[in-house]
Amino acid sequence: MTPPKPPSRPDRVSLWRYLRLFRQDILSAQPERLYRAWMAEFRTPFFRSYMCNDPALVELVLKDRQDDFPKSDRIGEGLRPLLGNSVFVTNCETWKRQRRIIDPAFEGGRLRDTFPAMWEAAVAAVDRLAPLANGEAVEIEAQTSHAAADVIFRTLFSIPIEHEVAGRVFHEFREHQRTQPVLNLGAFLPLPRWMPRFHRRRTKQTAKVIRRLITQLTADRMRAIAAGTAPDDLATKIMTTADPVTGDRFDTGEMVDQVAIFFLAGHETSASALAWALYLLATHPDWQDRVAEEAAAVIDPDRPDFATLSKLRITRDVFREALRLYPPVPMMVREAACPEHFRDRDVPKGSQIVLSPWHLHRHERLWDRPDDFDPGRFATENGKACLRNAYMPFSAGQRVCTGAGFAMAEGPIILAMLLRAYRFEAVTDRTPMPVAHLTVRGRDGIWLQLKPR
Ligand code: HEM
Repeated sequence: MTPPKPPSRPDRVSLWRYLRLFRQDILSAQPERLYRAWMAEFRTPFFRSYMCNDPALVELVLKDRQDDFPKSDRIGEGLRPLLGNSVFVTNCETWKRQRRIIDPAFEGGRLRDTFPAMWEAAVAAVDRLAPLANGEAVEIEAQTSHAAADVIFRTLFSIPIEHEVAGRVFHEFREHQRTQPVLNLGAFLPLPRWMPRFHRRRTKQTAKVIRRLITQLTADRMRAIAAGTAPDDLATKIMTTADPVTGDRFDTGEMVDQVAIFFLAGHETSASALAWALYLLATHPDWQDRVAEEAAAVIDPDRPDFATLSKLRITRDVFREALRLYPPVPMMVREAACPEHFRDRDVPKGSQIVLSPWHLHRHERLWDRPDDFDPGRFATENGKACLRNAYMPFSAGQRVCTGAGFAMAEGPIILAMLLRAYRFEAVTDRTPMPVAHLTVRGRDGIWLQLKPR
């Protein structure tokens, strides 16, 4: 069975219709030809944008000349009340300094120290699902969100999601999203400066509550660090790391901005990837059996072991394939800081450059059977080549996702633990249709039935 893919819009539509479709869902607002095009141009009265699917152009924008293609200052306007001046939205020197302080906490060696907390969150996710494993339909995105938020709190602040403050942040965040029903990827396209920004009062309020709760956690941690009683987790690591260039550290306010983005970028994305991976396994029972066998052979839930990760090869390929078909961040936008000439086209200064993992990962001129689920593809010549130049669920270059290594540990371990414990089946007549909210989600959720193995 071919995994669900949103219908494309007709090739030619009016600007008005395009903007309306775009507001509803950025994926189905695109024409079919983008799955074959190397580059495409969109003109609106507000901005000109160019989607680049040619791997050489993607490389140029994200890696070779990334300073010439910054994020627009107007990007993420809808998110600003929550994210403040976090690393996701900053540019130039501020961004570079923030990354110098944050990156060491996510380095490979550090992942080994973080891993036991991920393991505990995976065990907790298995326990949480036990009462639901009776064959009834379960909306699995809610469950994977819970698990991914748990991972963030355990690794960052050494507290589980059941902790009062952690639980409230998670709850308030859901409220925050409910207040912004149109907060889809459209929020990432820069509207003209003169257009007023409407942050609804309720949106601002929930953002304020979330930030107050995070401030409480961060200020407590600042005091514990000063008293020498802080646990050795990601928050302590980041808050005690001095910028090697300037020697300064994050103050509480700056750390709150970063925690907000770790929470947002770190749990929405992983939750989406896990939910789609479970759906794909539910609809491909042969692969499900292989993951379950691998998990049974290598995992002992009572003995957290970092080496397990390298043994979960099939599970990792399944997770990778889920990230290919349903990249949680389906598109990214940059701005051309100077005039460019791309593939025989002039690209004026200020144009929006759209990089689309969604289209690149399903590009018909790059991938064999691009719409099929086949984790075995990564062992083929085509799969290996595409992994190098047509696969970017975490973006690429200097601005690559800080949590890429983290996510590639968290995803497979949670997936393996769940598959070791339960068998997942798709619910008849409830095929999820992908839509791009903040991340790629099922339009009406992703519904599965599960039973103990
Ligand atoms: C499957 C899981 C994840 C996916 C697919 C993902 C994807 C991405 C992508 C595509 C970007 C670049 C966005 C852009 O340039 O516009 C990004 C940035 C970022 N991600 Fe992730 N992410 C994941 C998990 C995480 C986790 C677990 C964390 C932290 C705990 C994290 C933290 C960040 C941060 C801080 C940035 C901003 C980096 C910068 O701009 O310098 N992400 N992520």
